[in-house]
Formats: sequence, C-alpha cells, structure tokens
Amino acid sequence: MGQGALQCLEEILRQMDPGSILIVTGPTVQKLGIVDRGLQAMGSYKHRVETFINPKPEGDIAIVEECARRVRERGYDLIVGIGGGSPLDVAKGAAVVAVHEEGMRPLLGRNRLRRKGIPTVLVPTTAGSGTEVTQAAVVHVPEEESKKSIWDPRTMAEAAIVDPELTLHMPPRLTAETGLDALMHAVEGYAARDANPISRMYTSEAMRLIGMYLVKAYRDGSDMEAREAMARAATLAGIGCTNSGLGAIHALALGLDSLKSFNHCQSLAVLAPWVMQFNRVGNETLYAGIAKALGETVEGISSEEASLKASEALLRILDEVGISPCLKDYGIRKDEVRPLARKAHRLGQRLLPMNVREVSEEDAIAMFQKAFGA
Ligand SMILES: [Fe+2]
Repeated sequence: MGQGALQCLEEILRQMDPGSILIVTGPTVQKLGIVDRGLQAMGSYKHRVETFINPKPEGDIAIVEECARRVRERGYDLIVGIGGGSPLDVAKGAAVVAVHEEGMRPLLGRNRLRRKGIPTVLVPTTAGSGTEVTQAAVVHVPEEESKKSIWDPRTMAEAAIVDPELTLHMPPRLTAETGLDALMHAVEGYAARDANPISRMYTSEAMRLIGMYLVKAYRDGSDMEAREAMARAATLAGIGCTNSGLGAIHALALGLDSLKSFNHCQSLAVLAPWVMQFNRVGNETLYAGIAKALGETVEGISSEEASLKASEALLRILDEVGISPCLKDYGIRKDEVRPLARKAHRLGQRLLPMNVREVSEEDAIAMFQKAFGA
C-alpha cells in the first residue's frame, strides 16, 4: 500500500517464482498504459507473461469461463489482475473455476469451492470495490438478470498491491462513483448484523477517510493526498465488509444493477439514503457512530439526533459530487417503482439476512417510493 507500491511486484513474483503468468485486465486500463507499467514492474518476469482482456465493462460468467479455460489449457502458474473491480473479479473467478471441472454456475454461493485456485496477485486501478482483499468474486449472471458471487475465502489473493498512483487516471465522475461504492461497503459493513469490533475498526476508518477526501479527490484528481486516502479507504472498507457482510443497500441495488440505465454505484446512490434512514430505527447508537465517522458533530446531542445525521451526511456528499439519489433522474417512471421494488426484494434475498433490520417487501416498496420522490 502506498505511492509507488507497484514496484513491489517483482519482489512478490520472486517469492512465488511462477513459470508462466497471465495478466487479466480491461481495455481501458491497457490503453492508459497501466498494463505496460505493470509489465515494467515485473522486471525479468515480464518475459513469462501473456494477457487476457475482458472486452466488456462487466465480468459475466461466459468471460470468467473463457478465461478459466485458457488458464487450464496453458497451465499458468499465476494470475495477475490489473484493473477496476470487474477485471479483478474475472481474475479471481477464473483462478478458482480453472481448478474445478463443473464450470462457474455450480460454484456460485457460499463456500462451495473444494480447492484453492491458481494463485493471484491483484492490483486495483480504482478506489472502490475493495475486491483485492475480499473473499468474493462477483459476476453478472445473464439468465437471472442479476449479479452473483462465489463467496469463499479460497478466492482471496496471495497479495494485493494498492498503489494510489494507478488511480490518478480516473475522471471526476468515476472517482465519485467508485468512491461511493467504497463508502457503501464501509457503511454497510459497519452496520451489518455480523459486524464485530475488529471489522468496525476497518470500516469506521474507511468512512472517516472517505468523509474527508472523496469530495477533494472528485474536485482535484491530481490531489495525491486525497487519492492515497481514497485508495486506502477502499481497501480498508473491503477488509471490513468481507469480515462482517453487507446489507439492504447492496441487496436492493441488485434490482437496479440489472437495468441498463444504472451502474452499480448509481443503484447504491438512489437507495442508500432511504435504507440508512430505515435501518437507523432501533439502531441509533450504530448510526450515530456512522455520522461521527463521516465527520458530523455529534457531541452534546442525543444518539437519536446524531443518528439522523448519517443519511444527511451522505446526501450532502452525493450533492457535492453530482450524483442524484432520485429514481426519476434515471428515467424510472412512477408506475415502475412498485414492481421494481418487488423484484429488488426478491433478488436481494441472499444479502438481506446480513442487514441489521429485517426488510419486508412492503418496507422495500416504501424505500423505493422515497427514492422516487426525493
Ligand atoms: Fe459494492
């Protein structure tokens, strides 16, 4: 972790001494010259490298299986993932699918892997998903119009290299969206039913950093202090939430993620304020903690009042980075809100049990209605 950390790559490879390496990446990262920088940092190992490029913005099952087939056929000893969340998830997915015979679909879900995959080294080029340190490989499943994951500690990387210099390329919008994803991992990880004092140490520090630096990184992409803080925050949030879980924001976002008009971060943005207001009830001390971590003044007021400031802080951040929390701004009509909420509630079933408060279908509909009219 830190500026210039990419230079550690050769040393890490020397410890593992792979005979052949597959770089898994995306076209933008390659065009930006970041793959070439990765190759340079590999030193003499760069002569043992081949490259797999996922041409799509998202990783889906077909891409992971194609990559896994290539790993099996060519017998690579190591996969180096370089990119945003999607290429890294393809790298993680392919690494484990390659050593199982049945393809990816039967492996989706919790702890279905029977063996460890090909070792991976992950190098994030955004400050968002935190996948470099999580135990999940997320993919799009076309026939279910939803994302699913292989959730298993065996998907975890051998090493992650978090170099904020590699995030300098991000334009303001991508900075804001990926930073918001990291924030939601921190907020949901902090409040998750299975959170514990150690996971909260990570998620609260991530919230503190994001509260201080996301808007700065958005306004001035060359602000290295802000970039470093955001890169650290995304990784800390990843460590935190992979040890506690997520919640209703990510669960219900599954219903929007599948629509063309939303990317993952926009789905989170329209749901987060209302889910946070809903979750706050009965969990005031927890939400006062979130408000405090986000930099709100909570001294001298009741935890009831303080907890209200958590979603207010988020709405202010969204406003400052120009991301709308209103469904109607994404082309959703009023008559679509109910069916959308029902679908989200159904798709979200896998993640909803992690949420700190039980969410009924009616609750989901009420939150979507708030999201529409905001
Ligand atoms: Fe996320």
